[in-house]
Amino acid sequence: MRVRKAVITAAGYGTRFLPVTRSQPKEMLPLVNKPLIQYAVEEAINSGIEQVIMVTAMGKRAIEDYFDRSFELEYFLERKGQAVLLKQMQELSALVDICYVRQKEQLGLGNAIFTARDIVGNEPFAVILPDDIIDSVVPCLKSMVNVYERYGAGVLAVEKVSSEDTRKYGIIEPARVGRRVNRILSLVEKPEPARAPSRLAIVGRYVLNPEILDAIRATKPGKGGEIQLTDALEILLDRQKLYAFTLEGTRYDTGTPLGWLKANMAMGLKSQEYGPELRKYLQKLL
Ligand code: UTP
Repeated sequence: MRVRKAVITAAGYGTRFLPVTRSQPKEMLPLVNKPLIQYAVEEAINSGIEQVIMVTAMGKRAIEDYFDRSFELEYFLERKGQAVLLKQMQELSALVDICYVRQKEQLGLGNAIFTARDIVGNEPFAVILPDDIIDSVVPCLKSMVNVYERYGAGVLAVEKVSSEDTRKYGIIEPARVGRRVNRILSLVEKPEPARAPSRLAIVGRYVLNPEILDAIRATKPGKGGEIQLTDALEILLDRQKLYAFTLEGTRYDTGTPLGWLKANMAMGLKSQEYGPELRKYLQKLL
């Protein structure tokens, strides 16, 4: 079955980005010249996704407004003769079919995905965590959809991390089956380096069969009282195969001020419009 739907989870409090996130969703922070959430939506579109299901919550209205049409703004730009900007704004609101579900309590990533169950229905779907920005030639999700179609089983994105960082991630026990593709033998949540079965860490992209929703239903609250997706994936792994795709390109964790600054530097330097000037400026600063 084709992967047509993507769930983008944007309901978290973003505590690592306080105080900014007191009154503004972190997903609306700019990365060079677009909000983070737009990168997630564009990656979905460029991976063949036809419907985006955005999980939001209280205080996240700015995301919904962002992808909506603003007739007042369009009228204003038209009157001012700003034709290029007007076209850009119209294209933005016509990007893709987006529907919104609200997570009423921040009970974890597993619960956020479960909130979308009625719209996901009984078909495979993608999950994108918008604070993980992956800059690659082929969109990461597109490569994962290809792996899903080839092996007919769920796929998680993984990235090789340093040994001391295994304690920050879910780590897989891999069995190599192809270039950048491993079958997952087991999963360990945040292991100490000595106990880690590899250095391949699960990051924010998934392609999952709908049975994950039953697994989430069966998942008991874990650390911090949250329904952890990794716990549900462990249940699922007892019932069906799962694969890991080692991402290409560079991943930025924009969920913290330092990660967000690094992403802005790196992507800013790569930008045709701002790169040359920014490079000169940084050289001067250093
Ligand atoms: P994080 O672990 O980064 O949590 O969530 P967070 O709330 O966004 O940020 P911190 O850790 O407090 O700084 C990973 C992803 O899961 C979503 C987040 O929006 C993010 O995309 N999420 C998390 C939810 O949608 N709901 C939740 O209850 C928790």
